[in-house]
Amino acid sequence: MFRIAQISDTHLSDDKPFFVDNFVRVGEALRASRPDLVLNSGDITLDGASSEADMAAARLLHDGLGLPIRFLPGNHDLGDSQDAPGHGEAAIDAMRRERYVSYFGSDWWWFDVPGWRVLGLNAQLLGSDLAAAEAQEAAIVDAASDIGARRLALFLHKPLFDRTIDESEITGRFVNPVPRRLLMASLVGVTPALVSCGHVHQYRASEAFATRHVWASSTAFVIPDHRQPRYGLKEVGYVEHRLHADGRHDSVLVRVPGMPTLDIAQFPQVYGPV
Ligand SMILES: [Fe+2]
Ligand SMILES: [Fe+2]
Repeated sequence: MFRIAQISDTHLSDDKPFFVDNFVRVGEALRASRPDLVLNSGDITLDGASSEADMAAARLLHDGLGLPIRFLPGNHDLGDSQDAPGHGEAAIDAMRRERYVSYFGSDWWWFDVPGWRVLGLNAQLLGSDLAAAEAQEAAIVDAASDIGARRLALFLHKPLFDRTIDESEITGRFVNPVPRRLLMASLVGVTPALVSCGHVHQYRASEAFATRHVWASSTAFVIPDHRQPRYGLKEVGYVEHRLHADGRHDSVLVRVPGMPTLDIAQFPQVYGPV
């Protein structure tokens, strides 16, 4: 069995360290649990898209865990997808992406464990016209083409959709319809057994089209109901995924004792008044 501890939406910062205490608590829990891999599924930083100091601080905190680790970028780390509706947030560009890669390594990757191929993607390249978006698409085709009998676990920052793959809304919350279809086409007929994301700051596990979709909690904060619908649980924590060699898998929300569920509305100095 291969155990992945997925942490997400840590929103770490150098000069706005409001969510560092929660990260330290989750780090203590991870060191006690000793998963095979810690995976941060994005929004690692509070504002790495414009603050290099946030990148450096977040990287240092993760190195302090002393555990095997991989990263995927979120919109706050390198800018949002170019097809996301604008709300004053930076959009991904080549410079922001390169800066992210210099701190956290490749923004897409895959590796194999018994019975499984684990594929991590840069969700912000989906729906963007950077040269790297084409390179990522080619990598997805490669990863899917020679998967053989392994099952596919796909990780990316944003959920693919709310309930169904045919949704047509253009949002910043989910992968938009056209890049969603392109992603599915790049998988050349391989149906992921597991798709796991962050971004919404809510925990949810659901099944759609033979795939288990898991949304990981943030370790940092939740967003109040008047700003965001309730899709699942608004609670902080992390998710443990267990991938068994025979293809079985399970994912559970892990609550960390002493780690408060903070509400972003209480921190107007972070992203402005909510
Ligand atoms: Fe986030
Ligand atoms: Fe996000």
